Amino acid sequence: MSAVIDVRDLRTHIVTRWGTIKAVDGVSFALGEAETLGLVGESGSGKSMTCLSIVRLVPRPAARIVGGAVLLDGNDLLKKTDDEMQRIRGRTVAMILQDPMSSLNPVFSIGMQMREPLTMYHGLRGRAVLARAAELLASVSIPSPAARLRAFPHQLSGGMRQRVVGAMAIAGPPRLLIADEPTTSLDLTIQAQYLGLLKELQQRHRFAMIFVTHNLGIVARTCDRVAVMYAGRIVEIGPVRRIFAQPAHPYTRALLESIPRFGARRERLAAIAGQPPDLATLAAGCAFAPRCPAAFERCVEAPPETEVVPGHATRCWLHVLP
Ligand SMILES: Nc1ncnc2c1ncn2[C@@H]1O[C@H](COP(=O)(O)OP(=O)(O)OP(=O)(O)O)[C@@H](O)[C@H]1O
Ligand code: SF4
Ligand SMILES: [Mg+2]
Repeated sequence: MSAVIDVRDLRTHIVTRWGTIKAVDGVSFALGEAETLGLVGESGSGKSMTCLSIVRLVPRPAARIVGGAVLLDGNDLLKKTDDEMQRIRGRTVAMILQDPMSSLNPVFSIGMQMREPLTMYHGLRGRAVLARAAELLASVSIPSPAARLRAFPHQLSGGMRQRVVGAMAIAGPPRLLIADEPTTSLDLTIQAQYLGLLKELQQRHRFAMIFVTHNLGIVARTCDRVAVMYAGRIVEIGPVRRIFAQPAHPYTRALLESIPRFGARRERLAAIAGQPPDLATLAAGCAFAPRCPAAFERCVEAPPETEVVPGHATRCWLHVLP
């Protein structure tokens, strides 16, 4: 199966007052049709920056993509012109951000906001635009869609707004959908419904999906594979079941141990011991070493990526043969 999205050795640097940080430091992964990759890791590990680099929306001028390739159906997005990229974002690659309000403009009705992509990228005119917009709202289970087109964002509930953003994202329909923590602002029932909806749309349209979340329970339910990020790198990647059952990297193990067991009364996650790394002053070697219970002499050098079993890879000296 050929990849829908094939990210190779992606590198994004950010110039800050404290020095240049490698926010994305050689990230690689590929995804096929209807496949979902969960992207997890502590705050600041580079999940959002990876997503923003894929769609080339890194915050300028501080951040710059300095290397790698982002092949979408074989075409490198890093080589597209800005105009080409804008068309691709409106149609082939869709992104759902954490806060649905930030994707919706409060001063325009839902119908007005859906009009733009439908006329610009799909060439629809007049009544056809409204009919298609209503159809899209209906496809995300919004009741009385024609009437909702006249509503303004503040007149809809949070869950409803998410659905509108979802409807806009699948207007393409896209080949790749990137969802960066799309559910954190929703209550649990709505979260579950929304994830169910995204999966259903994915089955129908077969797009590849990158799903960023802090919630490993969501990863278990929604993703086929998971990539664990630490300090701008993927330190472990593989099938969800395999990694949950046999995590190879000490950081992944610590993350999994921090999930409350089902039925446990503890509601807060146990924090992982030690501080997240400061990317501006990162030493050479394994970035997890200062917090790693298994660190040994070799860890002063950066560990290479090693395959534990086919399809399951990690970056840790414990898995490199001496
Ligand atoms: N606009 C910015 N200017 C400077 N540094 C930034 C900017 N945005 C992000 N960074 C830095 O880039 C690194 C990666 O950040 P990123 O937003 O990708 O993390 P994340 O994994 O998405 O975290 P979170 O879980 O909190 O969303 C961090 O060290 C962060 O401080
Ligand atoms: S390379 Fe060393 S420090 Fe890094 S995770 Fe593996 S054992 Fe720990
Ligand atoms: Mg983020």
